Amino acid sequence: MVAPRGAGGNRLGPEPTGPATASLHEPRGAVSAPRRTADTIRRVSVTVVDNALAGHLLTQLRNERTPPPVFRTLAKRLALTLTIEAIRDLPTAEVEVQTPLEPATGKILGDLVAVPILRAGLGMLEAVTELFPEVAVGYIGLERDEASLQPQSYYRKLPPVEGRNVLVLDPMLATGGSGSAATAAVKEGRPASIRFVCVVSAPEGLKKMEADHPDVPIFTAAIDRQLNEHGYILPGLGDFGDRLFGT
Ligand code: PRP
Ligand code: URA
Repeated sequence: MVAPRGAGGNRLGPEPTGPATASLHEPRGAVSAPRRTADTIRRVSVTVVDNALAGHLLTQLRNERTPPPVFRTLAKRLALTLTIEAIRDLPTAEVEVQTPLEPATGKILGDLVAVPILRAGLGMLEAVTELFPEVAVGYIGLERDEASLQPQSYYRKLPPVEGRNVLVLDPMLATGGSGSAATAAVKEGRPASIRFVCVVSAPEGLKKMEADHPDVPIFTAAIDRQLNEHGYILPGLGDFGDRLFGT
């Protein structure tokens, strides 16, 4: 089933525009634009950024032979491509500037807040700060308990987010516990909108986000098959934080 544009449920922000929509059943490779699907996820808007560059970067991230210094670079590049899609429909203000020849009307992006979930989300932060140096940054520290897989909160430092547009950054959406808890924490500050940006997502995590935050669109480079018994995404790329920081 093709998700019509606007099938993303109640959004906090305006309707996304731009990315093509397509069915999950199209042969792989036939779609080069980001896809939005409602096959398994009925209300939450999920944009799969699977263009050639994103696929190229993700494949190298998945490769267990990729060492941490290269992993970091690849993660940042993939986060750049994801962020470009995630902010595609952010509100802009019209401004007039003076070119060397005459006045020109243009657009500038509004207020943006980035919130990486520690630790692994740090691997995506630099992409956002490079694209948008004016961004305000908040941090949410969460660590999954290995046995229960429940996120344990150990740090939170958020700037005022009321009326602002927030990107929550976490490369792995596995059970969805961390993503959901971080999104709930950001919502307490009454932002204008939240977008959740991740590298790999599992169907289980997408369902959790759908249940808890159907108003939060998700941008991901891949929807993987499933979780294993330890809550790791299959095929996934292993423990993102460990690979990023060489731990
Ligand atoms: C990883 C990842 C997510 C979380 C995803 O963090 O970065 O935050 O797991 O799992 P979930 O969807 O099941 O909650 P982890 O707890 O390993 O901490 P780290 O980033 O410090 O390595
Ligand atoms: N966290 C990770 O880093 N990887 C997974 O596969 C799941 C959670």
